[in-house]
Amino acid sequence: MDPLIRMIYASRIAPNFGPADVHDILNTSRRNNPALGLTGLLVFADGYFLQALEGARSRINALYTRILRDPRHTDSVILHYHDIDRRLFGEWSMGYVLSTDKNRALFLAYSLEARFSPLELSAAAAESMLGELAEHARQIGAASATAG
Ligand SMILES: Cc1cc2nc3c(=O)[nH]c(=O)nc-3n(C[C@H](O)[C@H](O)[C@H](O)COP(=O)(O)O)c2cc1C
Repeated sequence: MDPLIRMIYASRIAPNFGPADVHDILNTSRRNNPALGLTGLLVFADGYFLQALEGARSRINALYTRILRDPRHTDSVILHYHDIDRRLFGEWSMGYVLSTDKNRALFLAYSLEARFSPLELSAAAAESMLGELAEHARQIGAASATAG
């Protein structure tokens, strides 16, 4: 059995992380994920990543093993891992959300301080935050998210 899973993890950028790196990560994700049946949302803000991955359990596990070894980030923490009935991010091979003036309130809603610190999110908070950011991106038609 290979059930449908949603996994959410957070990590911190590596010290040598450059502006081109996030675009490379997105391009790679959008190239690889469709053939693997994977969908998701990547949030990049304040030097942290928060990513949801949805798809077959075996594929999620294999991808996360690869992502863990990626030198562009560090301190990865699995926040949420659960079998699901349906996807929340099914329209995006990898949607992309940055913090902007328009969604800043949503970041603050789930943070202890003004700075985004996703490593400390609970499973439920991580899932709601990503769900709300996705909904907001859909409403404003954010190009970065819908180009996924
Ligand atoms: C935060 C983060 C998220 C990533 N997400 C994905 C992803 O969704 N899909 C993917 O194929 N690679 C992702 N990667 C890249 C992988 O670590 C790895 O570089 C890539 O899968 C290698 O693919 P390639 O052999 O086609 O170059 C991610 C990397 C980081 C740092």
